[in-house]
Amino acid sequence: METITTINRLREHVGRTVRLRGWVYKSRASGKIAFIILRDGTGLCQCVLEKNEQTESFFAEARKLPQEASVEISGTVSADERSVGGHELKVTGVRVVHAGDAGQAYPITPKPHGIDFLMKHRHLWFRSQRQWHILRIRATVVDQIRRFYNDNGYVLIDTPIFAPAAGEEAQTLFRVDYFGEPVYLAQTGQLYVEAACMAHGKVYCFGPTFRAEKSKTRRHLTEFWMVEPELAFASLDDVLDVAEDFVCSIVERVLADHRDELTELGRSVDELEAVKKPFHRLTYSQVVELLHGPKPKELLEDELEVKTARASELDQKIPELEAVAKSGAKQWQKDKAAAEAIEAREERSELQEQLGNIPDHLELAGNFEWGADLGGSDETIISRLHDRPVFVTNYPKRIKAFYMREDRSDDRLVENFDLLAPQGFGEIIGGSAREEDYDRLRARIKHEGLPQEDYEWYLDLRRYGSVPHGGFGLGVERTVAWLCGLKHIRETIPFPRMMGKFYP
Ligand code: 4AD
Repeated sequence: METITTINRLREHVGRTVRLRGWVYKSRASGKIAFIILRDGTGLCQCVLEKNEQTESFFAEARKLPQEASVEISGTVSADERSVGGHELKVTGVRVVHAGDAGQAYPITPKPHGIDFLMKHRHLWFRSQRQWHILRIRATVVDQIRRFYNDNGYVLIDTPIFAPAAGEEAQTLFRVDYFGEPVYLAQTGQLYVEAACMAHGKVYCFGPTFRAEKSKTRRHLTEFWMVEPELAFASLDDVLDVAEDFVCSIVERVLADHRDELTELGRSVDELEAVKKPFHRLTYSQVVELLHGPKPKELLEDELEVKTARASELDQKIPELEAVAKSGAKQWQKDKAAAEAIEAREERSELQEQLGNIPDHLELAGNFEWGADLGGSDETIISRLHDRPVFVTNYPKRIKAFYMREDRSDDRLVENFDLLAPQGFGEIIGGSAREEDYDRLRARIKHEGLPQEDYEWYLDLRRYGSVPHGGFGLGVERTVAWLCGLKHIRETIPFPRMMGKFYP
């Protein structure tokens, strides 16, 4: 009786006969030989089926198996460096579990598809290799988040999803009818972990959060996952130190477990290896000076040059690829050229947009006024000017949340920070020291026009044994997008929710 195993464990079975269970990723056949690339959720394996007396009974059926048919394949394992995954199966038996509906071909073919089509087929799309790599890296990031806090003495506190009041800007609240009364989907668990840190010292919450973001940007989801540690008896510097160690631990773990996948995704491993302590620390005011200085201009002019060159390269390449796609070449060569042409066209149109934006970004940076919030393009400039993550601290109070601690040396500022990931990726963490003084906090709540009665419980934390404390929130999807080098965060979550998009 053969052993049932998985592709990632084939190395333990070299020379023996095993059974794999999975789906047909690709197949091709010629004459008396068929090749099936099987995927089973743990990896890919090439299965080679030769027509002979033993295989005659199922050869005809097996060689016609459609993409994504589910099968059980038995065979003898051999190590083969050149084969995908490093092992090969010489097939001795095939049992078809489900060949798919006749006449209904699997919709996602090796041919190219536009992003809207893929998003509508997300339930199938994430079977494809690229998506598979990304979601596995996400799973590791999530595991490392839990491990970091559990191993460092933080207590997990599960905070509610139904919230009675805003925790961040009121404009991004999702309102829900709660037996006739309005409640809101949680934008953050922070106010609750602040209560919990007064009970446990060091705590964290980790779960889905909701923001009615009306912006359709590459960085915004309406439902995303955030981890929020909170520490009692902590200054802003203490919080920055935790964020630094935490981000380093995630990068180290992903590099240790997913080096090959990162390379497959085209992510520079060297750039991630450069993510080491100490991160850069700049104040908001220093950032404003930087934006007004000569560096953004130099950076954007270089970018203009590089992107213009790439655009003309693509202008030459696209017609060549399209000619091959329409030529009398072999079908697989035509498909490959067509897929590359679509990718090149997408890249070309993105470049067009980026080239058009560069003058605006330069102007925005040059005219940036102290007191305004940093825009996406400003963040991009700052983070591109640095090879390691950058903390930007002490923003103007009037653009930041009511709970942030007022800077005692300059009351126009708060003691907060954003962490910008390098290479132009932008913000992945937002955090602060919290206002621990009852009078100052009450005044901020009033000044922001928030109803004080909703925050009485929160004010209690400043009535009974208030202490300096602080914490931050790291967005899982933005972190995964940065680690994987993705332009858009929609691929970093199994079923993304964005403005106007909630199917499937
Ligand atoms: O800066 P934010 O809004 O901070 C808070 O929510 C604080 N209550 C956290 C705290 O101090 N405990 O959000 C924190 C992070 C951002 O840096 C970003 O990574 C992510 O959450 N984030 C989003 N990710 C995807 N889509 C959105 N719409 C996001 N909004 C925030």
